[in-house]
Amino acid sequence: MIGLAALIGYLLGSVPFGLILTRAAGLGDVRKIGSGNIGATNVLRTGRKGLAALTLLLDAVKGVIAVLLMHNEGRWIVVIAGLFAVIGHLYPVWLRFKGGKGVAVGLGVLLAQAFPVGLIACLVWLGMAFWRKYSSLAALTAFATAPLVALLLGDWRVAIGAVVIAALVFHKHRANIERLRAGTEPRIKLGA
Ligand code: G3P
Repeated sequence: MIGLAALIGYLLGSVPFGLILTRAAGLGDVRKIGSGNIGATNVLRTGRKGLAALTLLLDAVKGVIAVLLMHNEGRWIVVIAGLFAVIGHLYPVWLRFKGGKGVAVGLGVLLAQAFPVGLIACLVWLGMAFWRKYSSLAALTAFATAPLVALLLGDWRVAIGAVVIAALVFHKHRANIERLRAGTEPRIKLGA
């Protein structure tokens, strides 16, 4: 069952909605604009807020589905399914293993695995995004917070999964971290 959970999680996570949606909208390859990422933040840089919101939603939903499909199979299986959904998004075979940064899918996974943990991570993301206006900083703060919240709630299996997800998200944000330190990270425009 672990292998099946990993495979289903990986395949669901590997669907690159940002790329599919921007291509379908006639905007070309989102990997050729902005940061080159396939996530909602970079889709937002096309100027299409609705498309960015849809990317965010669908990337999160694939994480939710990967977890919910396994919810009767025990806590470890749920953790594995979620972890591999994130891995699928980060390293999709369809894009020669060059995928996104795992933020939306990771939040979806956390919401489905342990709703309060995911909710707090989303609130931290929103708070930081509106306060500092850096999507990457908001993501890094949210994923650093999630394992601590899971531990406080006594859900150590989800906490372990959240630590691995956070490590992957941080790894994928290496260039963003460099830019944040250098003061060159672009800010995001939220709201109308
Ligand atoms: O969701 C990814 C975000 O944290 C950073 O995206 O495009 O600014 O590298 P980007």
